[in-house]
Amino acid sequence: MSTMKAVVAKTPGAPLVMIEREIPAPGENEVLIKVEACGICRGDAATKDARHGIALPRVPGHEVVGTIASIGPTGSRFAVGQRVGVGWRAGACRKCDNCRAGKLAACTNMLVTGQSIDGGYAEYMIGHEDGLVTIPEGIASADAAPLLCAGRTTFSSLRTAGAAKGDLVAVHGIGGLGHLAIQYAARLGCRVVALSHGNSKEALARSLGAEFYINTSDSDPVAALKALGGPKVLVCTAPNAKEISRLIPGIGRSGHMVIIGSTEEPLTVPGHALIAGLTMSGSGRTTIDEALRFSAETGVRPMIETFPLAEAAKGFDKMMDSTVHFRAVLTM
Ligand SMILES: NC(=O)c1ccc[n+]([C@@H]2O[C@H](COP(=O)([O-])OP(=O)(O)OC[C@H]3O[C@@H](n4cnc5c(N)ncnc54)[C@H](OP(=O)(O)O)[C@@H]3O)[C@@H](O)[C@H]2O)c1
Ligand SMILES: [Zn+2]
Repeated sequence: MSTMKAVVAKTPGAPLVMIEREIPAPGENEVLIKVEACGICRGDAATKDARHGIALPRVPGHEVVGTIASIGPTGSRFAVGQRVGVGWRAGACRKCDNCRAGKLAACTNMLVTGQSIDGGYAEYMIGHEDGLVTIPEGIASADAAPLLCAGRTTFSSLRTAGAAKGDLVAVHGIGGLGHLAIQYAARLGCRVVALSHGNSKEALARSLGAEFYINTSDSDPVAALKALGGPKVLVCTAPNAKEISRLIPGIGRSGHMVIIGSTEEPLTVPGHALIAGLTMSGSGRTTIDEALRFSAETGVRPMIETFPLAEAAKGFDKMMDSTVHFRAVLTM
């Protein structure tokens, strides 16, 4: 029996633990992935805390990059040794009515990596054929991993908001998602204004492509946004409903705000902002493939801090404290 190391959430809320377990064998429509890198995302906290009915033990991790180690009995469009990635959407359940009718993309019970199947905090994981993406050659595995969730989410936000060349785009919160959003917006030809709660990230934001910087702690951010003409798009990555709500009057006429910072608190939206044309959405559905392709072509890369698998719990805590610059990545 060959074994591997895996980091699992065992008890709701308790620290993640490393265990030794059997290397799984791929079944029909599955491959075995030898994991090279896996990003640590705030979304993994749902697994650690067993929220949304997630059954433990479970291996978290939905920003997975690795190579195909073996292929299940039904074959694969990928070859052994090929580099692939897995994001949130692990693949179709192959059991619901849509799957049985051959419409995998319309699966009503999509498998979620690190929630309904084991994820990438491990030396090996099972990948589902229809959930795999190809990683462009020019991107190192540890850099590619955060692009599978943080990258896709921010790129998709800008696409969904219709951000185009010359548009003023504001990015609120300069962390794992925000530092990518600035880069994507700048590479799309937008003029970027970064908003952060102090001055410490100004030089960084400018080096990533921001033309303007607003310190939300010591200026009136609404007045500052209005003085710039009001952004066409506001990308909200800071998970704070009050802070997000506070910025709404600063958005330009018929502007769009994208909420990606996860908050359960209600937002306060003045009715007249909607009458004036404000629209709001989540990050939308632009695919990982599109985000990876754009990143490869334009040189967008995450700033990462790497941790060996044995230090997954430490990396996780740093990510939760927002002290990682700017995405934590496990390397095997
Ligand atoms: N929608 C999706 O699909 C999706 C995907 C991935 C992640 N997310 C969510 O996106 C959010 C951001 O993730 P991340 O990786 O960028 O996190 P992060 O690295 O911790 O950065 C978040 C940034 O928001 C600001 N911030 C954090 N807590 C705040 C608070 N309580 N009040 C005001 N500002 C605060 C800080 O920015 P400054 O220091 O610049 O002020 C911080 O750097 C999380 O809530 C995460 O769950 C959503
Ligand atoms: Zn994520």
